[in-house]
Amino acid sequence: MTREAFAESVHVRAPGKINVYLGVGGRHDDGYHALATVFQAVSLYEDVIATDAPDFTLSVTGVDDPSTVPVDDRNLAMRAAKMLASATGYEGGVHLELRKSVPVAGGMGGGSADAAAALVACDALWGTGLSPQRLHELAARLGADVPFALHGGTAVGTGRGDQLNPALARGRFDWVLVTSEAGLSTPEIYARLDAHRTEIGALADDPPMSLDVPIPVLQALRAGDPHSLAASMFNDLEVSALLERPALDDIINEGLHAGALSGIVSGSGPTIAFLCETPDSAQYVQGELQKNGRTALHVHGPVPGARIIS
Ligand code: C5P
Repeated sequence: MTREAFAESVHVRAPGKINVYLGVGGRHDDGYHALATVFQAVSLYEDVIATDAPDFTLSVTGVDDPSTVPVDDRNLAMRAAKMLASATGYEGGVHLELRKSVPVAGGMGGGSADAAAALVACDALWGTGLSPQRLHELAARLGADVPFALHGGTAVGTGRGDQLNPALARGRFDWVLVTSEAGLSTPEIYARLDAHRTEIGALADDPPMSLDVPIPVLQALRAGDPHSLAASMFNDLEVSALLERPALDDIINEGLHAGALSGIVSGSGPTIAFLCETPDSAQYVQGELQKNGRTALHVHGPVPGARIIS
């Protein structure tokens, strides 16, 4: 039994992510789409504190509107804890305290980070000692982005986004994130993409079920070159996020005008991620966007995945 098994509480931190590249292919029968994506974990974190308890309970801090985060089985962190208990035969419960910094329904994988952190925290708290492979399997059952939140760094995701391979990334990339008060629903953004493609006649008969990340994206990451990465960043979901929320286009233009190298919708949005040349230029872009009344954060990537803080 590990030392942590005797602790009364365990604190785990897991990062939010940006999809530097997100190619979306056809829809499988289960509703999930074939993906080829590159995730980068960035320095905006979810903190999960797991404390011994007889039942399964959850509380949330760090959100403006608590009603946006369920505290029951709809919460992915709660599902993660229960899944780990049933997979290991653990008979007790846990109280999960979620301290959120990643925007809710923002396209940055905040809920997935909570689930990854909950898995790692409960595994340590309960002394269940799962192998990284078993943790990955449970993470993939919880959601397509959860395995990446466990691993962090920069990684290529294929399949439904859950088959991960590390990508080489040199140095650090500076990002400015502009968050929006109201989130977007991921399933709705995928559905809108399907509808849009049908409307324009694309992918009608033969949607690709296996996609690759373009080589220039991987080369830019390997070279640590923000200019090349800016030129090759892409997100298939951007068109549907912009159809749903046309005002996002104004944010992209403001960031580019302020000197960002490129701006992209993060995941299913509505967070916009701007890639900047240097930490100084990111600070400048952040300041300009704030002057326009935007909520802008300067973060960097890659950073590690879910890890125990104490
Ligand atoms: O797995 P996760 O809970 O993050 O997915 C949320 C929703 O996003 C899914 O229910 C599905 O509608 C959509 N999705 C998809 N294809 C993927 C990943 C997610 O259609 N590869």
